[in-house]
Amino acid sequence: MDFKEYLKSRKTEVDAFIEEYLSSIDAPSKLLEAMKYSVFAGGKRLRPILAIAAYETCCSSNSSSTTSDSDEAALALGAAIEMIHTYSLIHDDLPAMDDDDFRRGSPTNHKVFGDAVAILAGDALLTQAFEVLSDDKTFSGIEPGRRNKIISEIAYSSGSSGMVGGQVADILSEGKSIDRQALKDIHLRKTSALIRASVVSGAILAGSANDKISAMEIYGSRIGLAFQVADDILDVTGTREELGKSTSDITRGKKTYPALYGIDEARCLADRLVTEAADALEPFGESAWVLRTLAKYIVDRKN
Ligand code: IPE
Ligand code: IPE
Ligand code: MG
Ligand code: MG
Ligand code: MG
Repeated sequence: MDFKEYLKSRKTEVDAFIEEYLSSIDAPSKLLEAMKYSVFAGGKRLRPILAIAAYETCCSSNSSSTTSDSDEAALALGAAIEMIHTYSLIHDDLPAMDDDDFRRGSPTNHKVFGDAVAILAGDALLTQAFEVLSDDKTFSGIEPGRRNKIISEIAYSSGSSGMVGGQVADILSEGKSIDRQALKDIHLRKTSALIRASVVSGAILAGSANDKISAMEIYGSRIGLAFQVADDILDVTGTREELGKSTSDITRGKKTYPALYGIDEARCLADRLVTEAADALEPFGESAWVLRTLAKYIVDRKN
């Protein structure tokens, strides 16, 4: 399977899993409509693909082949992470936050459903991600200690010490002067943490030894930071049409890598992070080819 086919097949599987899960929920139809609207608006599914790729890499570090079907538990893990990510985007776009009107190629959730339903659709996606992660049937083959570690990893990275904390620091830094270390800290929390948790939880699900989990931690945090640096660069160099979302960092006085370092230095930094990430994959040999290619894709992408 080549890289493009790999991305497509994993995305299709994750989408099918989320579709089936959301169709099984007993909830007010407006709420479900709002949840599905943002989930299926056309995201790249990068985090679930990373979780599944890390799982597969850890399962087969001795062979360069990848399976054509992902295991149910890895799909559930990916689906839960994508639900949390989508919730973070719905809330990130709200008038009280970045106040954006365009996301994933469509009007933002609150533009269509109003602020109250958008907030609640985000709340529901976050909460129900943990229902997916705690489903006994899906995770029946995984020992409880490992399942707990995964849930705790995902909760930690998306909560106050991770994504939510980073979002608060991001909002509070608008229009202020901050140094490079403070900027790095914001990006590590708001974006890198959940990306790191995606690959780390994939490794935990595969039953990896601690040294392999640590290698995934380094890989994940480097590509996670590189991902937000690339996002900041695209906010300056890309168009609303190409990106499928509003470009509003400058107008909101956001603290970004291009703002503090300039575009060229920000690009060099992202490339350096990708090299460090690839180096961390050394213990996995050839079986990490998807993760290596994903690291490059993260900084070379156009959307
Ligand atoms: C956008 O994430 C938000 C950031 C963390 C920068 P993505 O670029 O992964 O967005 P989708 O999921 O593809 O829409
Ligand atoms: C948001 O970063 C990261 C999240 C945790 C959602 P941005 O505010 O830069 O994301 P975009 O550019 O709106 O996608
Ligand atoms: Mg934001
Ligand atoms: Mg934003
Ligand atoms: Mg951005």
